[in-house]
Amino acid sequence: EQSTLALKNGHHLPRIGLGTFQATQQGLVGSAVKYAVKAGYRLIDCASGYGNQKEIGAALKELFEEGAVKREDLFIVSKLFQTHHAGTQHEDGDRRCVESLDETLEDLGLDYLDLYLIHWPFGFQEKKLDDSEGIKQPLRLGDGSPNPIWNIKMEYLDTWRCFEKFVANGKCKSIGVSNFTEEQLQQIIDMCTIPPAVNQIEVHPYLLQQNLHSYCAEKNIRVMGYSPLGSTSSNHPQKYGVNLLSNPVIKVIAEKLGKTAAQILIKWTTQNNSNLITIPKSTTPSRIVENVSLDFEIENEDVKKINELDCGHRYFISYLKKPGNDNIWHSGVIEEGN
Ligand code: A2P
Repeated sequence: EQSTLALKNGHHLPRIGLGTFQATQQGLVGSAVKYAVKAGYRLIDCASGYGNQKEIGAALKELFEEGAVKREDLFIVSKLFQTHHAGTQHEDGDRRCVESLDETLEDLGLDYLDLYLIHWPFGFQEKKLDDSEGIKQPLRLGDGSPNPIWNIKMEYLDTWRCFEKFVANGKCKSIGVSNFTEEQLQQIIDMCTIPPAVNQIEVHPYLLQQNLHSYCAEKNIRVMGYSPLGSTSSNHPQKYGVNLLSNPVIKVIAEKLGKTAAQILIKWTTQNNSNLITIPKSTTPSRIVENVSLDFEIENEDVKKINELDCGHRYFISYLKKPGNDNIWHSGVIEEGN
């Protein structure tokens, strides 16, 4: 039985879940989900932007049919993509936000989500991918499109009002956000009826963001940390590596405890912060098991050494621009040269 964190509305969030970002290769994510659930995972972190929800839905269907798990024992998370915000930016109000959730539910084969997140605190306009033919498609992550058109209005406030309706009509048990700063969270808190249950952000030893974590804990907002190992999406692999697995401080602690570097990094996230859950992504069976085999403690003095690795480095800056450019939303401060 995995430990959980209570949400304000009485629902429970498992402390660890399976990430599915970049698990796009046909067949891989479905097998990973099936394997993970059978290995004891109860939380699956999905997003329409990852382009693999249909395959995850097929895997869930098989699991339910086999009796491997019941729907009510799983905690399924998904996210609204940037092209589908609600509100005044679009002539059609809530329509695309409502349709996007319906599509996500259909792809996943579910009639409700446990948690629905606004993926980023800004929107993309739909973009004509090919003007000559007038093809108009929503952008998807990784589809090779040129830079998206930025839409800088605070449409996430309209989207939040729409999300509150999803709780009222039972399509989402809980609602939250992702990649939001304190200021952006406060804007929602100031106008909302239902406060955000969760903020999903990048969390690993290079990116502590203590102020944001303290703010979330104080406001009873649980934090889901993504990329606990770092990421192959690194924008600066020469300086920071593609992940933290080869960091010498982590390696020494791993050797001392007879664990892998990945286990140290994952254990650190939950041991270090009682308001945090973590969602390591893997499609490799042995790693899926390894990443939840965390029946050990890191000594306080080693936790301190890991905390000292903080350098403000974020692996995901693809949507972030330097502060000072008012035309662009950013979700955090980016260090020079990053
Ligand atoms: P894999 O899925 O092949 O097991 P990203 O989100 O950028 O894909 O980062 C996760 C990366 O970390 C993946 O490449 C994943 O590989 C890898 N990974 C996950 N768990 C482990 C682990 N326990 N040891 C080493 N690498 C891991």
